Amino acid sequence: MKNINNQNGLNSIWTQSLVRNHHPNGNALVDHLRTIHQENTGFTEACASSCRDKNGRNSYEWLGEVVPDDLSLSVLDLACGSGPLLKILFDRNKNLNLKGIDMCPEELVLAKTRLKNSGVNLIESKAQNLKAINDNSIDIVLCHWALTLMDPIAPVLDEVKRVLTSRGQFAALVDGPMNTAPGYEEVHDLIYNYVQEEIPSYGEIDLGDPRIRESESLRNLAHNAFPEANVTIETNVVSMEGPVTKVAKIAAGFFYAAFILKPEKRKLMIKDLSNMLAISKVSADNEKQGRFAMPISRLLVTRNIK
Ligand SMILES: C[S@@+](CC[C@H](N)C(=O)[O-])C[C@H]1O[C@@H](n2cnc3c(N)ncnc32)[C@H](O)[C@@H]1O
Repeated sequence: MKNINNQNGLNSIWTQSLVRNHHPNGNALVDHLRTIHQENTGFTEACASSCRDKNGRNSYEWLGEVVPDDLSLSVLDLACGSGPLLKILFDRNKNLNLKGIDMCPEELVLAKTRLKNSGVNLIESKAQNLKAINDNSIDIVLCHWALTLMDPIAPVLDEVKRVLTSRGQFAALVDGPMNTAPGYEEVHDLIYNYVQEEIPSYGEIDLGDPRIRESESLRNLAHNAFPEANVTIETNVVSMEGPVTKVAKIAAGFFYAAFILKPEKRKLMIKDLSNMLAISKVSADNEKQGRFAMPISRLLVTRNIK
């Protein structure tokens, strides 16, 4: 049963499992994610493209740096969503052979519009089964803020390995260690406290495979999936400033958990979050400003099979 009801918050098979304190299966996860993305297309990029690191790069640009500018490589954006990363890569180097895969048709519609006449091949598929992509055909697989959502994860890594060339690279942008971004843990806890009033086990059970969220377990997963490869994980912090209510809404929109709140609860949460994110600065028109910072990590797996 799938039902987004604006007065009742999001209710899915996945949330119903959590209410019964059961671990939802992979199909319930897919259904839940599709429901959220169908109703809120493009919400990831609203936050991710506004948040920048100290060198001025957003997380798409930081991840995209793995792709060299001067070669005609074949690049797959796994779980490309509305296509912001593919657009950055296309604008930088027209000689790339670009492909994007996502399981949500509504996000792919946005990506198709954005990448019209670019020749980028967009495919609707789950990351666990990349049957549209040939073995050893991709030089670089990128995955921006989506690996954390995938469960089961082992078939995804197997598929990445199958499609990569013997010297190929896999780079994924994932959540970084919470304590590296000032105030992030407090923002997380505020939103999860609201959500746990509705579903107490939300957080204890969360989206995706929890091993992706911790650097050590992520490193182990990558080593096991690619025993021959060099694996590195770098961390960074991106942040945004602006009118505080706007910053609070964009930041809250980035947390999947916030989508389950009923409208009235969500309003209260945004108000609390605005108070938390407020900084002393005010704009020229006297509007209160806010700041949100988030931790990010970049996993890089470089294969080297002779
Ligand atoms: C947080 S969004 C990120 C989208 C895009 N990479 C970006 O950063 O703007 C997560 C995306 O992952 C996709 N996704 C999640 N699990 C997936 C899976 N198992 N297979 C394919 N796509 C998946 C969702 O449909 C959604 O578009």
